[in-house]
Amino acid sequence: MKFTLIVASLTAFSAYAAESTKPTGTLPPAANRKVDFVGEIYPIFHEACIRCHGPEKQKGKYRMDTREGAFKVTSDHGPAIVPKDSAKSAIVLMMAGQIDEMLMPPPGGKAGESDPLTAEQIGLIRAWIDQGAEWPSGPIALRKKSIGFASHIQPVLKQFCAECHTGASGQGGFHVDSLTSVLSGGESYGRAVIPKDSGHSPLLTIVSGKDEDIPKPEKHRLPDKTVKLIRDWIQAGAPE
Ligand code: HEC
Ligand code: HEC
Repeated sequence: MKFTLIVASLTAFSAYAAESTKPTGTLPPAANRKVDFVGEIYPIFHEACIRCHGPEKQKGKYRMDTREGAFKVTSDHGPAIVPKDSAKSAIVLMMAGQIDEMLMPPPGGKAGESDPLTAEQIGLIRAWIDQGAEWPSGPIALRKKSIGFASHIQPVLKQFCAECHTGASGQGGFHVDSLTSVLSGGESYGRAVIPKDSGHSPLLTIVSGKDEDIPKPEKHRLPDKTVKLIRDWIQAGAPE
């Protein structure tokens, strides 16, 4: 019994030692510029981590919406954040998939919800930590992101709708090729988007599954997160 315990803790210890001495050549490089915590880093945490590590859930007893929480020493992998040493910060190793079975965010979940962070995002977080990991006291207010057609909306419409709505052959005369064509809509519904009035924009009714007459409803309904994005874009005046 005693013997098993010792072996188990030795194994756990050597796993940790191996992790922390692992060469960091495979970590994405830190961004080579000054980064802004509130504008650039916290939004990444908000998007990728806080639903499991925030006010509602604290998976692994870790929460990242407060400074004290975010800087805690993790149960098995050393301090979550080591100011000025991103290569020793457990969150960086986890985000880069360098700790077995601890890729964060964990894979799985709904499509688009648990994508691994990009090398660029990890590089920004590394730069923030290497620059001293400043975290202002008190709650962080997220700045409003501006949603644009080219950057946010068109990629989604291309992905889900282009199959049937592109070029002259677009079903019902609706095509997703340009902002103008999306705004003007198709033959039977007319204008698909009324800027600042998502409630009267057929596009929103259709993609939220509330239009009972649209053919192939399963091809028109988008995930809630995407519907919200389109609604916010329309409310913002449907900018380019
Ligand atoms: C879908 C839920 C989910 C998301 C999203 C998520 N995590 Fe986790 N996280 C977990 C779970 C579950 C554990 C506990 C895993 C275990 O101990 O085996 C955990 C554990 C951790 C731990 C270890 C805490 C400790 O004390 O051991 C850290 C650090 C962590 N996550 C960081 C992050 C970061 C950084 C992100 C965003 C890039 C993130 N997580 C996103 C579910 C999540
Ligand atoms: C599998 C093919 C298919 C896909 C994918 C598809 N649609 Fe359609 N869509 C149709 C058909 C068929 C019609 C009805 C055309 C008609 O009335 O002749 C239609 C009609 C429409 C109309 C009404 C056009 C009019 O007549 O005014 C809009 C707007 C529309 N779709 C938007 C979308 C959006 C947004 C997506 C992506 C989320 C999408 N569609 C995905 C097949 C599709």
